[in-house]
Amino acid sequence: MAPELKYDLQIKYGSEYGEDEKAAMLRVLADGAPTSGDACIAFENAFAEYCGVAHARCVSNGTAALFLSMLGVGIKPGTRVITTPVTWIATAASAATLGAEIDFVDIDPETYNLDVAQIREMITPETKAIAPVHMYGQCCDMDPILAVAEEYGLAVIEDACHTVGGEYKGRKAGSMGKTGCFSFHEQKNISTLGEGGMITTNDPELFERIALYRSHCTRVYGKSTKYCSLDEEKFPMGNRFWFQDFDDCGYNFRMTDIQAAVGLVQLGKLDMLNQRRIDNAAYITEGLKDVPGLTLPKTAPGVKHVFHLYPVLIDAEAFGRDRDDFIYTMLHERGVKVGAHYIPLHWTTAFRNRGYDKGMFPVADRLGGSVATLPINPRQTREALDYLIESVRAVCRG
Ligand SMILES: Cc1ncc(COP(=O)(O)O)c(C=O)c1O
Repeated sequence: MAPELKYDLQIKYGSEYGEDEKAAMLRVLADGAPTSGDACIAFENAFAEYCGVAHARCVSNGTAALFLSMLGVGIKPGTRVITTPVTWIATAASAATLGAEIDFVDIDPETYNLDVAQIREMITPETKAIAPVHMYGQCCDMDPILAVAEEYGLAVIEDACHTVGGEYKGRKAGSMGKTGCFSFHEQKNISTLGEGGMITTNDPELFERIALYRSHCTRVYGKSTKYCSLDEEKFPMGNRFWFQDFDDCGYNFRMTDIQAAVGLVQLGKLDMLNQRRIDNAAYITEGLKDVPGLTLPKTAPGVKHVFHLYPVLIDAEAFGRDRDDFIYTMLHERGVKVGAHYIPLHWTTAFRNRGYDKGMFPVADRLGGSVATLPINPRQTREALDYLIESVRAVCRG
């Protein structure tokens, strides 16, 4: 029988809630618990300021943020999007579900982010966007990505779902591309009650388009509402109180105010929570640096890595166990739940059905077969971290 899970070493929950979140929720509840109300606006304003961008809009999850961004920049059948195969499927699926073709490029062997040197050769006349993913909490090398995008007139959609609060050369993740996409899923560095997301942008027209499609492309004329414009010339009020029009058929990807109120509190704690992750990662690295067969995560110069995850690559021969055996043994002998983020997308049925296959991207293939993600979260105590380090060392047979 597997031992009980130890300390707080599970990978299940990323963030933590306290009395402040509870109080914020109760305030919104007393106010009727609306959607897209004052708490959402307050969260958006604070988030935009935190990231140093002009606009932010709450959405229901990170997938919706990516989807609306792709839609906003004109992704549709006949277009192509460049991204990495080492990500959660939402990055590629947000473009694929709009009818685009996905062009994967391999990853960098040091950072596991997409290899910027391979982007240029993938660009075709149909390429419309690049979606760099700031994997595991570390920003991609954005300067060359932004340069090649500008040269070819491509939109950069930053997938910052792992990297809220992360930085590249002093710029916040999600503030550098056409849009930044964030997730507040329960496992992320901050959460809005299990699900949630945010889109950031500096482009007012794109923001308007994204905001419209997020909420059924609706405009209400004749009265002022938070997300709709007043345009009495286009639709004279006459004796009507208001008139509702829809520019197009859109979606409902809204966030509730209870979620946003929690998000605002979480945002206030973000730097502190990220610092605990950074400190925990440094402690794990120190404790495991001499274990044979383990490649530990590296932080690129000029980057603030916020350690959403702590990936290690396992060389089965040197470590004495392969990745799957390591994960199994850590769970069953030590009570520590280790993950495997991610199975590369070109291995999946969804992308094998789109012409991809295992073996097409050597660095991503190596990661896919050897990556294990050790538990990391802001609540881990020294005792928990010591147990984790001791467990990895104990199961190593190298
Ligand atoms: C890299 C990445 N992109 C996008 C998403 C999608 O976010 P959500 O689960 O909030 O839809 C995730 C979620 O895990 C993710 O890890």
